[in-house]
Amino acid sequence: MTHVIDGNAVANRIQNDLQECIDDLETAGVTPGLATVLMSEDPASETYVSMKQRACDELGIQGLHHELDPTAAADELFETVTALNDDPDVHGILVQMPVPDHVDRATVLRRVDPSKDVDGFHPENVGRLVAGNPRYKPCTPHGIQKLLEAADVETEGKDAVVVGRSDIVGKPMANLLIQKAPGGNATTTICHSRTTDLGEKTRRADIVIAAAGYPELVDGSMIREGAAVIDVGVNRVDAETEKGYELVGDVAFESAKRKADIITPVPGGVGPMTIAMLMYNTVKAASVQTDVPVTLP
Ligand code: GUN
Repeated sequence: MTHVIDGNAVANRIQNDLQECIDDLETAGVTPGLATVLMSEDPASETYVSMKQRACDELGIQGLHHELDPTAAADELFETVTALNDDPDVHGILVQMPVPDHVDRATVLRRVDPSKDVDGFHPENVGRLVAGNPRYKPCTPHGIQKLLEAADVETEGKDAVVVGRSDIVGKPMANLLIQKAPGGNATTTICHSRTTDLGEKTRRADIVIAAAGYPELVDGSMIREGAAVIDVGVNRVDAETEKGYELVGDVAFESAKRKADIITPVPGGVGPMTIAMLMYNTVKAASVQTDVPVTLP
């Protein structure tokens, strides 16, 4: 029987453990604060940010939300970030990506104070991850590590294939998988849009992480019997539903499930973990910035 990992259950468990950390911070007079900044009218981005704010409300994290007109000058965004850097009640800052084309993404990421960069996207934090000394692990790859751990999937000595080379998921995922640390020590291959014969690579893998952003790119014929398959894709495809679309992962779930021992669904797999690990990084940021120790899950 294939084990379908319940991402909501794992995320809830982590958030319950985080609640204890938040209570300890509160006792010491500290309310963790997370600022989200949205400069987009993309419905998916709006949904993601409101889910992040909802998670803050549920846990007693102070959520501050800033919305900028997507046509506003780039300087407005930079100045918003600078003000948040200077605000002692804000421990974590997240600028929802993507930003509009006229805003230089690299400049935004560099502008966030690295100690408040709960996404782990600032070049200093990327460098620390690559050097094997991460400050904030990027939320989605960290959540995937937690899902694998919850499903008792050993990574050490295993062949892992990451499909996708994005800065948000693919690259940091591969970097976590090769760390000399629990959840790492995997022999890791990164595949991408120019990879030839993708299936030949994925069929060799004990662990496949599909994060390319193409609906149902990875199907059962590309999965080795007994593999663990993690689906990061959230693709809106036209469908005759009330909303006019449905969400489809990067994995063809039914066919992959026939081969895999362990698989994540979409929705309800990786998605909830991204939010849980954002809360984790915010709690960690608050603890470090205020010198109030907590025991993170
Ligand atoms: N856009 C898609 N995923 C993410 C994420 O994890 N963080 C931010 N800031 N933007 C995103």
